[in-house]
Amino acid sequence: MLMTGISRAGLAGIALSALAAAGFAGGTPPHVQRAPFGHTPEGQSVDIFTLTNKSGVEVRIMTFGATLVSLKVPDRNGHMGDVVLGFDSVDPYLAGVPYYGATIGRYGNRIASGSFVLDGVTYQLPKNNGPNSLHGGDKGFDKRLWSAKPFETKLGPGLRLTYVSADGEEGYPGQLTAQVTYQLHNDNSLSIDYKATTTKPTVVNLTNHTYFNLTGDPQHDILGHLLTIDADKFTPVDSTLIPTGELAAVAGTPFDFRKPTAIGAHIDADNEQIRFGPGYDHNWVLVKPKPGAMTTAAVLSDPESGRVMEIRTTEPGLQFYSGNFMDGKPSGQGTVYNHRTGLCLETQHFPDSPNRPSFPSTVLRPGHTYASHTVLIFRTTK
Ligand code: GLA
Repeated sequence: MLMTGISRAGLAGIALSALAAAGFAGGTPPHVQRAPFGHTPEGQSVDIFTLTNKSGVEVRIMTFGATLVSLKVPDRNGHMGDVVLGFDSVDPYLAGVPYYGATIGRYGNRIASGSFVLDGVTYQLPKNNGPNSLHGGDKGFDKRLWSAKPFETKLGPGLRLTYVSADGEEGYPGQLTAQVTYQLHNDNSLSIDYKATTTKPTVVNLTNHTYFNLTGDPQHDILGHLLTIDADKFTPVDSTLIPTGELAAVAGTPFDFRKPTAIGAHIDADNEQIRFGPGYDHNWVLVKPKPGAMTTAAVLSDPESGRVMEIRTTEPGLQFYSGNFMDGKPSGQGTVYNHRTGLCLETQHFPDSPNRPSFPSTVLRPGHTYASHTVLIFRTTK
């Protein structure tokens, strides 16, 4: 995370009294601390929670957007580095940055023409991305204030965030109660678990939009990172990034990441799908022994620092976005993130599923619970 004005001392948190009583105060990890992080335009307070595990790995999450703000993990020499892009107060996020670290909902990714039919009723959503609806509309879950509850188990410190999305919000039917639980495990993994229930049939696709840069220095781009994705197929898109419905083989294309491959190796290939990106902005169809199985979706590594991140998920798809729209324009308090200095690996259902009966369903009905699990596992190589 780049420093943008507020000093770290200014963010020094107060250990939560419940956890203090349980013996987690006084800076002895593992623990959770809360500190103020600014205000929404409506004047509501935004908090940031710092979770620290036994080895000193630290993750910070704010209540605006249930957003992952920073994540410090060691390199091969034990030096801690922040491997996600973020800011030092809520202000740049309010100024409209593209989903840095945010929880995305009610529907992550695109819905064609911003419309879908469910049980014979047509729903119209905001078109906030050309002709399509992206990431929940004009004011998705990334721009909402979540309530937060810290907790601690023997696995490590955690934070449970809840947001109740009103019936009809951003055009979606049904009141949706969404819950995201982050837990920083003492084995240096971070689990992100989603749950949701609804009062009327609706569609749901929750994900996290963190931009990773394993170098720990956002001045470096991510083109030298090696990526493996456990997928034989991907979903090709039209020029507005809506899937055509085809599941295309990755073999022999720039989309083949079945073996560790440098992100920069084919990112400028003469290929129509790459031109549409421009670069990688596609959904891979993960290999699963059965739907919903928890499997390794991707492994990302930085040969320089030796940092490795493995992503495991129950989701059927993975959107790999190579930071193509990062433009280096100053945002918020002057922080600049240049082209392709971060990449997103969004565990998810496929884009435009509400309009594609052949894709795994994203429909949630009353009486059922939506559940999705993702784990980011950090380690190093020599
Ligand atoms: C998603 C989309 C991208 C882009 C980013 C935000 O990952 O797939 O096309 O909109 O969000 O810039």
